[in-house]
Amino acid sequence: MEHQINYSLLNAQLSAITDGIPYETANLANAAALLWEHLPDINWAGYYKMTDGKLVLGPFQGKTACIVIPVGRGVCGTAVAEDATQLVYDVHQFPGHIACDCASNSEIVVPIHVKGQIWGVLDIDSPKIGRFTEADREGLEAFVKVLETVL
Ligand code: SME
Repeated sequence: MEHQINYSLLNAQLSAITDGIPYETANLANAAALLWEHLPDINWAGYYKMTDGKLVLGPFQGKTACIVIPVGRGVCGTAVAEDATQLVYDVHQFPGHIACDCASNSEIVVPIHVKGQIWGVLDIDSPKIGRFTEADREGLEAFVKVLETVL
C-alpha cells in the first residue's frame, strides 16, 4: 500500500517548531529530524547548502555522506543546475548519481530558495525503489516553502 502522509499536519508542525527561531542550524536540524520521524522507508534526510559556488553538506539524519557536490553533478547538483525538483524512481538509472549510502534506491531533491536565489537543496533518500510519489513532491515542496520563511 502507498504511504499516506499527512503533509498539511507535518508542515504545520514544522511551522510551529521553527516560528520565530532565528537560528539556521537549529531550524534545519529540527526539520530533518521531523522528516526522519514521520516519513516511512527513508535512510537519509538533510541538506546541501550553496557555499563558494558548490553544494556543501548541512545538517542531516542518516549515515555519513559526501561533503561537497559540484553544481550539475549527481541528483543534488542537477536540482540546482535545473532549479527544479528531481524525483528519481531508481537512482541507478540516473546518470551521475552520487551514491553516499549504497542502500539508497530512490531519491527526491527539492531546491531551497532564499531572497530569490538558490540557497541549497533538501535531499531525501530511500532504500525502496519508487518510494517517492507526486504527493511527496507536492508535500515536500510545501515543506520547503515553510523552511524558506525561516532561512
Ligand atoms: N545521491 C546524492 C548525493 C547525496 S546523498 O544521497 C546524501 C546525489 O546524487 O546528488
